[in-house]
Amino acid sequence: MINKIKAAADQYFERLVAIRRHLHAHPELSFQEYETSNYVEHALKGLGLEVTRMATTGLLVMIEGGKPGPVIALRGDLDALPIFEKNDAPYCSTNEGVMHACGHDVHTTCLLGAAMILNEFKDELSGSVKLIFQPGEEKLPGGASIMIKEGALEDPSPASIFGQHVHPELEVGKVGFKAGKYMASCDEVYLTVKGKGGHGALPHKNIDPILIAAQTIVAMQQVVSRRSDPMMPTVLSFGKIEGKGATNVIPDTVEIAGTFRTFDEDWRQEAHKWIRQIAEETAKSHGGTCEVRIERGYPFVYNDEALTERARAAAEAYLGAENVVDLEMRATGEDFSYYSQVMPGSFHRLGVRNEARGIVHPVHSPLFDADEACLRVGAGLMAWLAVNEMKG
Ligand code: NI
Repeated sequence: MINKIKAAADQYFERLVAIRRHLHAHPELSFQEYETSNYVEHALKGLGLEVTRMATTGLLVMIEGGKPGPVIALRGDLDALPIFEKNDAPYCSTNEGVMHACGHDVHTTCLLGAAMILNEFKDELSGSVKLIFQPGEEKLPGGASIMIKEGALEDPSPASIFGQHVHPELEVGKVGFKAGKYMASCDEVYLTVKGKGGHGALPHKNIDPILIAAQTIVAMQQVVSRRSDPMMPTVLSFGKIEGKGATNVIPDTVEIAGTFRTFDEDWRQEAHKWIRQIAEETAKSHGGTCEVRIERGYPFVYNDEALTERARAAAEAYLGAENVVDLEMRATGEDFSYYSQVMPGSFHRLGVRNEARGIVHPVHSPLFDADEACLRVGAGLMAWLAVNEMKG
């Protein structure tokens, strides 16, 4: 079967390049992927597949195998980012200010490619494949959570789920795996420090929220350095601070915003309490107040260990051991976590880098691009992972 899949991936390659270029040229923002979704639906129906709409722009498809066996889910994401593309290629974004800078065009294309391959051999499959094309990976609450709420993982329930993501740090032709905890939970932290504004020359008449904000940010580093288990990776970064005073004007309030990331649900809860407490107490000790709002984002991505070991071995069989690498944990987030929290899931990385061609820019950069040779690898590997998993 492995050779049949490889041959099919080669055979569909040019079509996949055309699909990827169409998607790349027509990016749409999270939860607005109407044209993208119509395009993918049309392609799936062209294969004779029945498509169910979910979460407005999401698509769910079953490829029923000829023989009984488990249901394996494969997931891709449809959305793009609010970025002005700075590449100069014939397939550049035609939707100004919107760009597939996170490679979701590649993920969607590879999943569509996997659908073509699996559909071709469906009579030979001992099990079925559920394809999940989800919207809104880049935006809270995350399209995955909506797809799950609307029943994407029910009737039938998949035994496991695979997802993939482009990786500009990894040479095209290679893929990467990491069993266990892989990507961080990410929460947004908003602090509003309130004091009493007035003339900068009369500090004793005011309650200075600028000073409180400065002390709060410093004090907040205790959450990571003193409250977190040193063995537990934790990030608390503040990327925004705004106090609209002047050289001689102390403002009433200062707004601070940041991100909290970690890899454990209990610690995540506890850390939220510490953030609240430290912010409120610091402000209070200076006569001010602090309103704390924490917006919960995605949970951490957990790659089921047994499933990921099997997937890694399957990838070695498909690509050769020299093309499969081990990944490090990373503090970025992914809403694939919603699937991996409720069922065995495995999320791997697809190499797209090509230094000779200048394809080296990170995701979310206006210069991000992918070497399209990755489509052959990504589509074939997704199909093969599902088939391999059916063997149990
Ligand atoms: Ni992404």
